Amino acid sequence: MTELVRVDNVSKVFDISPPLWHRVLTRQPKRLVQAVDNVSMSIEAGQTYALVGESGSGKSTLARTIVGLTPPTSGSVWFDGALLAGATHKAVAPSVRRQVQMIFQSPYASLNPRWRVGDIVAEPIRAFGLSDRRQASRRVDELLEQVGLASSDAARFPHEFSGGQRQRISIARALASEPRFIVCDEPTSALDVSVQAQVLNLLKQLQRDLGLTYLFITHDLAVVRTMAHQIGVMKQGALVEAQSADALFASPQHAYTQMLLDSAPIVSPKASRSGQL
Ligand SMILES: Nc1ncnc2c1ncn2[C@@H]1O[C@H](COP(=O)(O)OP(=O)(O)O)[C@@H](O)[C@H]1O
Ligand SMILES: [Mg+2]
Repeated sequence: MTELVRVDNVSKVFDISPPLWHRVLTRQPKRLVQAVDNVSMSIEAGQTYALVGESGSGKSTLARTIVGLTPPTSGSVWFDGALLAGATHKAVAPSVRRQVQMIFQSPYASLNPRWRVGDIVAEPIRAFGLSDRRQASRRVDELLEQVGLASSDAARFPHEFSGGQRQRISIARALASEPRFIVCDEPTSALDVSVQAQVLNLLKQLQRDLGLTYLFITHDLAVVRTMAHQIGVMKQGALVEAQSADALFASPQHAYTQMLLDSAPIVSPKASRSGQL
């Protein structure tokens, strides 16, 4: 086992105070939201670390901090020994940035509606100078096929696709920079259950084929049942429990984890052992 990503004591505080003049006039104190509260975690290469927790628990903020979209208030994030994010802003080398990608819940928001799919998928290839134009178009064909689309889809626009297919386009785009680590923030939450399963299967297959490491974020424990190696549970910004998936499903340590398990529509390990399916 080798650690690929290390999150060290990361906190993120948002200042949601009204403007200063207003605060002074109305004698209000500053209003701060501690979205992420001193989180540390370690993600093994080739594995899936699932981060679960109810809405508002800080999952997306932690995800955005890890990939460097928003700086932490304190703490640091390391990728394969290189600094990925820290409170004091330091530019991350493109060779490191290229290896870390993110997939969002809503592919509507993350795919430019005016661009053809081929250009959307090719953009990271161009941005990181990974190949010349001719090679790039061949690489786009390959990526589209890898995610279960057709190379002819390159000429179409995002709105011509279903939700599940659009998520496949985002996956192809994320893969274009040849990442080793992908943060998936509720990638299937907006999809129908049957489509969800297909996208999860695709992510699992890509992990096997490409040796990818995932941080997989969800509010639904059932979704990660078959995907996760490690599971971390977030509550009010803090990581309240982190265990291997097997251990967590067998004996959740925290009352909040037990509550999440109880609310997930899955057969409990106890019930299946005694044969009452
Ligand atoms: N840009 C922001 N400015 C102010 N508050 C924010 C911002 N982003 C998130 N928050 C707050 O941080 C908390 C955690 O939000 P979020 O990370 O989106 O949780 P989750 O993804 O688990 O639903 C919430 O209270 C949210 O309102
Ligand atoms: Mg979120």
